[in-house]
Amino acid sequence: IRRIGVLTSGGDAPGMNAAIRAAARTCFHLGIECVGIRRGFNGLINGDDEVLNYSRVSGLTRMGGTMLYSARSAEFRTEAGIEKAVNTCKLLGLDGIVGIGGDGTFRGLHDLADHGIAVIGVPGTIDNDIACSSYTIGYDTACNTAVECIDKLQDTMQSHERCSVVEVMGHRAGHLALYVGLACGATAVLIPEKPVNFEEDVIEPIRRARLSGRTHFMIIVAEGVGSSYDVANKIKEATALDTRVTVLGHIQRGGAPSARDRVTATHMGYSAVMLLASGKTDRVVCMQDDKYIDYDITEALSMKKGLDEDKYTVMRTMIGQHNKV
Ligand code: F6P
Repeated sequence: IRRIGVLTSGGDAPGMNAAIRAAARTCFHLGIECVGIRRGFNGLINGDDEVLNYSRVSGLTRMGGTMLYSARSAEFRTEAGIEKAVNTCKLLGLDGIVGIGGDGTFRGLHDLADHGIAVIGVPGTIDNDIACSSYTIGYDTACNTAVECIDKLQDTMQSHERCSVVEVMGHRAGHLALYVGLACGATAVLIPEKPVNFEEDVIEPIRRARLSGRTHFMIIVAEGVGSSYDVANKIKEATALDTRVTVLGHIQRGGAPSARDRVTATHMGYSAVMLLASGKTDRVVCMQDDKYIDYDITEALSMKKGLDEDKYTVMRTMIGQHNKV
């Protein structure tokens, strides 16, 4: 292997830059040239590239976002788009591609593999919804950012004796919401993996908290559940509480990565290049039981990630609810 391309695709995540740096530095160590492909798969289609030498990736570990830009490419989903991308790989002499992103990124990489390009995926998303990996780059930072914001909200909610409904990201999964809810000592946490009985799951916990003396309340809603404004209106109707909605939104995707994200990203970026260098392709780097392993992309995409039921039980216990199965 003489030259490798690195790209980031899909929603950005804190730690992606550390993974890019690690891939580039590992290439340097192995005597491989590393080329950054900008704007995800669009960069492969349009030949949007830059050489990532040793100094170009210097200082990247602590940077949020992705210096290679990210995109969701509609054109790459067409056969014509894939062909253009494959031609760019040939033109630039890329022997392999490292793609950092989520399931959509891995599907794109697999399409390239089908056309003879060696590829390795690295899981990077704040949603932690990649089934083959217990952890995805960016999750820890996003959880910490959300917790920091919610702590601030708790102060003003306490002063005004209000009920806060906070919507957190997570796409169709509730991992982020559950983790953040536990960390914040939320009054209730609504996640898409579990059916919501409004009276039992939201109103009862609020009443119980109120009867124990609490005068402000924090309801965490995963975006996959639906509108947090509807949740707030229903709470207001049922309890007459002064209720406010905060959608944390993209603030959760920004900021300097946590130590955990920097280290995980560095290890995963390193592993991806080592896999390519050892002749492997069509695989994704994963973490399981604190070890870095790799999976066939098709197998990885067919896996389903369940909710952390232990965490869910603990959360239900904290809010005084029986568990739900
Ligand atoms: O996958 C990361 C994520 O931030 C999800 O949590 C969210 O649903 C989505 O991306 C938002 O995407 P966009 O940045 O395109 O609005």
